[in-house]
Amino acid sequence: MIAPVTMFGPDFPFAYDEFLSHRAGLGQLPAAAHGTEIAIIGAGIAGIVAGHELMKLGLKPVLYESDRIGGRLRSEPFKDGAGAYAELGAMRFPPSSRALFHYFDKVGIETVGFPNPLAPDTPSTVIELAGIRHYARTKDDLPKLFTEVERAWAEALEEGAHYTELTTAIRHRDTATIRRLWHHLVENLDEESFSGFIAKSRSFRELGFRAREVFGQVGFGTGGWDTDFPNSILEILRVVATGADDEHRLVVGGVEQLPRRLWSLAPETMSHWPRGTSLASLHNHVPKPGVAKIAPGTARKFAITDRYGTTAEYDAVIVTCQVWLLSARIDCAESLFHHDLWMAMERTHYMQSSKTFVMVDRPFWRDIDPASGEHALSMTLSDRLTRGTYLLDNGADKPGVICLSYTWSDDALKWLALPLDDRVRLMLHSLRQIYPTLDIARHIIGAPITVSWESDPNFMGAFKANLPGHYRYQRRLFSHFIQSDLPEAHRGIFLAGDDISWTAGWAEGAVTTALNAVAGIIRHFGGTAPSENPDPIDRWPDLAPIRLVE
Ligand code: ARG
Repeated sequence: MIAPVTMFGPDFPFAYDEFLSHRAGLGQLPAAAHGTEIAIIGAGIAGIVAGHELMKLGLKPVLYESDRIGGRLRSEPFKDGAGAYAELGAMRFPPSSRALFHYFDKVGIETVGFPNPLAPDTPSTVIELAGIRHYARTKDDLPKLFTEVERAWAEALEEGAHYTELTTAIRHRDTATIRRLWHHLVENLDEESFSGFIAKSRSFRELGFRAREVFGQVGFGTGGWDTDFPNSILEILRVVATGADDEHRLVVGGVEQLPRRLWSLAPETMSHWPRGTSLASLHNHVPKPGVAKIAPGTARKFAITDRYGTTAEYDAVIVTCQVWLLSARIDCAESLFHHDLWMAMERTHYMQSSKTFVMVDRPFWRDIDPASGEHALSMTLSDRLTRGTYLLDNGADKPGVICLSYTWSDDALKWLALPLDDRVRLMLHSLRQIYPTLDIARHIIGAPITVSWESDPNFMGAFKANLPGHYRYQRRLFSHFIQSDLPEAHRGIFLAGDDISWTAGWAEGAVTTALNAVAGIIRHFGGTAPSENPDPIDRWPDLAPIRLVE
């Protein structure tokens, strides 16, 4: 059997999955540290994973949350929806996210195939581009241009990014080769955009502009990546080389169950805490309110003030919210971070993202139109306002859910100013141009649900995406958990979350950066990783992401 592609590297090829499943555990702390309170800002999956692991080590995590447990793992139930829900944030999970799936398994989460374009579990797909509609049950039903575009992308990756060599090295966890190839790519491509990479490639130059347009529409994996054209090509290479856009799974019952189950899970084995202790029990079942201020403390190193003015002091803090909030929403003392790190935080580029969902009486899209032999409605990619329309089947006898539109960046900004009903009406109008004889509205039941993450003051954006030239900023953010060389004033506060990771927009990055922060906290309290299970700090000297001249 050939080894699977996983989210192993390429920037920091540390085997988080092996580290997590090692029976020696993640580390140990001096008994004197047991019971010490650690502030964790944000009860999204990064905060909950960090809290869970710190609790197992005998520390006392204190989670602060300004909205609700789960962060962007948010499964919003439809009102009176008999269990139907809308995945407002993360909705599809590549099995290459090995650290994330470790926690899925721990809490008994079940997954099924996600209905992406042309995926095995997708009954049919419609691609509508420049007014021309293509109906496909498999890739082979699409016209030749689509195959040519797919081949051009494969060739561009091969010629411009050592694709086969890199993915083979990732499969075999051949660290030396990954580092050699990736070093070369970072040095040569950091300033290059996704669209620049495509436009300059031999294969796409030969095919002409129309092919690039089609590629922007159908892309790779999940399709429709042209809103990422201005981003760094390195961002895209990370996604394709680690299988992050492949074989996506949907969580049965909603992914918000992951943070919620971890929150109430009482681990089998723990240091210090009595059996039955869980994050929930340590918090009397509810996290603390959101944080308003982070400042140097008097009795302990950090003073954290919640939004109602209560201050508590801590020896260490993990910050998991999006980094923009540290200057725009939280009064955070400037002295806690080096100016170079503040620079990296302020330059962080977030993508906007919007989704709108309706509940429908039944999965009517499976009906076959007798005249055409086609499904009544298909997973749809379009260059119209909706961009991606997804059909979520809860069984023939249950209400279904349609994600009328999932958009990024400028496409999401088109929805930002519009109220819910205008969004739904306009989306239905767009879909009517593609399915002129279908009355989707007739099937809608209950109240629709919409989100624009950029308008939520607790997030200010959906997910980070590095722009060309951002490698150095990204490296500063990611490396901050290595604190042995930092001045005393900058130690003890750790950043985690998908925006700190190399793969923002994937929960894997939230989980792995949380584990980095946990390793940092262990060192901060004089602990170590088990000698038979070296942690990301032990491995840093060999694996540290390459450095570009500053
Ligand atoms: N992983 C998310 C998805 O499958 C979104 C991440 C997209 N990232 C990006 N840079 N566009 O939809």
